[in-house]
Amino acid sequence: MSEQHKPTPVSGESTDDTDIAELFRAEIEDLLVQLNTALADAVLGMDDRPALTTGANAALEVLQEPLPGTGCGAQKSIEKLLEINAKAAANTGGPKCFHFIIGGNTPASMAADLLATAYETVTYTWVVSPVGVQMELQALSWLKELFGLPSSMSGIMVTGATMANFVGLASARQWWGEQHGFDVSETGMAGKPQMPVLTSGFVHASTLKVLALQGIGRSNVQQFCRDDFGRLDIDAMRQALEDLEGQPAVVIVNAGEVNSGEFDPVNDMINLARDHNCWVHVDGAFGLFARVSPRVAHFADGVERADSVTVDGHKWLNVPFDSGYAFVRDIGLMARAFRYSADYLPSENDPRPTLGAIGPESSRRARSFAVWATLKAYGREGHRRIVEHCLDIANHFADQVRQHNSLELMADVPLNIVAFRFNPGGLGEGELDGLNHRLGEVVIADGRFMAGTSRIGKRTIFRPAFSNWRTRKKDVEEFAEVVVELGNRLL
Ligand SMILES: Cc1ncc(COP(=O)(O)O)c(C=O)c1O
Repeated sequence: MSEQHKPTPVSGESTDDTDIAELFRAEIEDLLVQLNTALADAVLGMDDRPALTTGANAALEVLQEPLPGTGCGAQKSIEKLLEINAKAAANTGGPKCFHFIIGGNTPASMAADLLATAYETVTYTWVVSPVGVQMELQALSWLKELFGLPSSMSGIMVTGATMANFVGLASARQWWGEQHGFDVSETGMAGKPQMPVLTSGFVHASTLKVLALQGIGRSNVQQFCRDDFGRLDIDAMRQALEDLEGQPAVVIVNAGEVNSGEFDPVNDMINLARDHNCWVHVDGAFGLFARVSPRVAHFADGVERADSVTVDGHKWLNVPFDSGYAFVRDIGLMARAFRYSADYLPSENDPRPTLGAIGPESSRRARSFAVWATLKAYGREGHRRIVEHCLDIANHFADQVRQHNSLELMADVPLNIVAFRFNPGGLGEGELDGLNHRLGEVVIADGRFMAGTSRIGKRTIFRPAFSNWRTRKKDVEEFAEVVVELGNRLL
């Protein structure tokens, strides 16, 4: 559009009688040019930016201002956003973020996700987006192939593993009610028996949150532990199941524990569950990716026998946040648990799929674009290589720890997490815990790397998790040096 035909941008000067739609249409053209540069900076600068910008708190004070009356227009608002972000950014997609379990973005998934936003694709039902719905179904089908899950399982994309656990356990609860002869989603739980939920001490906090929300109650979850790390006491679990005398129950298998990457004994737990009247839910948020590499697939052997399975895409699939997947053996249970109908919505008998009626979210973005695009772009082989790259990085870092006099490995490294601590020698266990706890805060404040502390049993540890294709061997070598440098400063 030529300069003289451009309407005034939406800004302090705009008046009530200006056509807002006309202004927006004109604004978008300039914005795309601005965005081109901004995206290049954001993505190409990722390797070099620190994990966490220091001084973020002070920089964020500018956010505290009253709601603008007329606004400054898109271009200035985006300029301001970039300025604030530059001063306070967390580079969680960069190669030096090992906190929680945070993946990167494959190039194809990043591009596809931007397009999902640009096209404003809504993936509630076929009628509003045939492409969003069909791409989700296809991507879920590919994911089942990637993870070796039965093709007969149904799936749904959700925000992450928390919501995938929600779907799996809502389906389990529906099954449990039906075993007792009632429909939980219709009648609720009042006056009903307690749903038994059995697991190990590896159970993730998100699962407890989900069970709290579903009326089961966090403290009703029975954790059978044989040590203070939380490893399963299978004999105690067997006894508890025998005591139920065939009453339906739910067994949660934790395929990947967040502090060391260790697994519950999947097959043993499923064998036990099958001998008793149990639903088996597997939380494989990141651990399910073991099945993508023959080097570690044995840890998650047996998951294909589960009734419901959780896995996260924004972790090791390396697709943008937010993206998680639930797979459930019986789609009827999902449909009854998440039933969603009203006169203005698609009929429950419509053969065209309504994904909003088999999962928790009604309006949903097209997470499928990113998942489909990355699987199309890199296939099974490319994703095996991402997983194995991260396994190699974890092993390389574990070697750094072993070689360093002041670092101590605190657990085996089965997968992509390395539990270790700073141990300069001569300190008691309590002192080491305090030192590593303080060091955890210092590492975060330093900003060069992002990694957190946790506990294995009573001991305070660092637990860097490697699930981003961007991380290089030199990054983890530097991380070991930085931990020692900062640790020595605390002595
Ligand atoms: C084993 C496990 N389950 C569930 C979750 C929750 O995942 P999300 O944050 O994607 O909801 C996590 C996150 O780290 C996890 O590791």
